[in-house]
Amino acid sequence: MSEPQLNFRHLTGIKDLRVDDVRLILDVARQFKEVLQRPIKKVPSLRDITIANLFFENSTRTRMSFELAEKRLSADVINFSASGSSVSKGETLLDTVQNILAMKVDMIVVRHPQVGAAQFLASKVPASVINAGDGTHEHPTQALLDAYSIEEAMGKIKGVKVLLVGDILHSRVALSNLLCLRKMGALLRVCGPPTIIPKYISSLGVETMYDLDEALRWADVVNVLRIQSERMELQYFPSIREYSQFFGIDRRRLDAIGKELVLMHPGPINRGVELHSDAADSKYSIILDQVENGVAVRMAVLYLLANSRTNAVN
Ligand code: CP
Repeated sequence: MSEPQLNFRHLTGIKDLRVDDVRLILDVARQFKEVLQRPIKKVPSLRDITIANLFFENSTRTRMSFELAEKRLSADVINFSASGSSVSKGETLLDTVQNILAMKVDMIVVRHPQVGAAQFLASKVPASVINAGDGTHEHPTQALLDAYSIEEAMGKIKGVKVLLVGDILHSRVALSNLLCLRKMGALLRVCGPPTIIPKYISSLGVETMYDLDEALRWADVVNVLRIQSERMELQYFPSIREYSQFFGIDRRRLDAIGKELVLMHPGPINRGVELHSDAADSKYSIILDQVENGVAVRMAVLYLLANSRTNAVN
């Protein structure tokens, strides 16, 4: 019997995945997480593969997590940052990528501020393309590692009540999370000021709440999102101080709920704004587990996409 595999060679968004695809990625990630607990954390699975990490936008977690995942799989890795590159001399995205691919690169991981950048490259280049975040659109591997972390913490995803709090409008993490968790049967609500909750949210089967304490009482899992000031052209609420008062999460607020609750944040945290240190570093938090799981989940994505390259349909 052949090994289960993905039948596509790019991961540009969660919207393209079937439930079985997500299930396969999470199951393979569990096996890689087990590998990562061993003294020798490396496997030879991608020793014939060269991967380029192309970051046109800042990153700490995603970039290092992908690089580590690639190295744990024994791939050859090259890294590109827009700053310090010939992008500043006017080179286009496609020219940059085609030049890198001329060096015999098999897969690219791309973060770009432009919505659709990964999809564009996937339609133009022969390499497998993985979206590491495109503007306000999607961040599929973050959603997969969040789904993995919820399943690890709660024992399941189906039926788990997941609340996303904060800047849903500008958040690629929010969209990918909602698409992924809905596929996997979680119950979803969002909470935040009405100005940063997108109008399409109900079409995703997601209910909106405006009272944070009521929303926290409903939730099993709360995923707190950063206020993305760098993407805001307008003022969406009177002040950061007022935002924090109404929608910031601190330990007092969590303790007052009086039940077990799992606290998540994709990072980077704006401490004292959407999340206070006494909550971020508390017993409720699985934030560093999310980061740990990111390596195993990205190993699974890279491994499965590399395997699918010969049988792919897109
Ligand atoms: N979660 C996330 O995407 O973090 P970075 O921007 O540091 O990669």
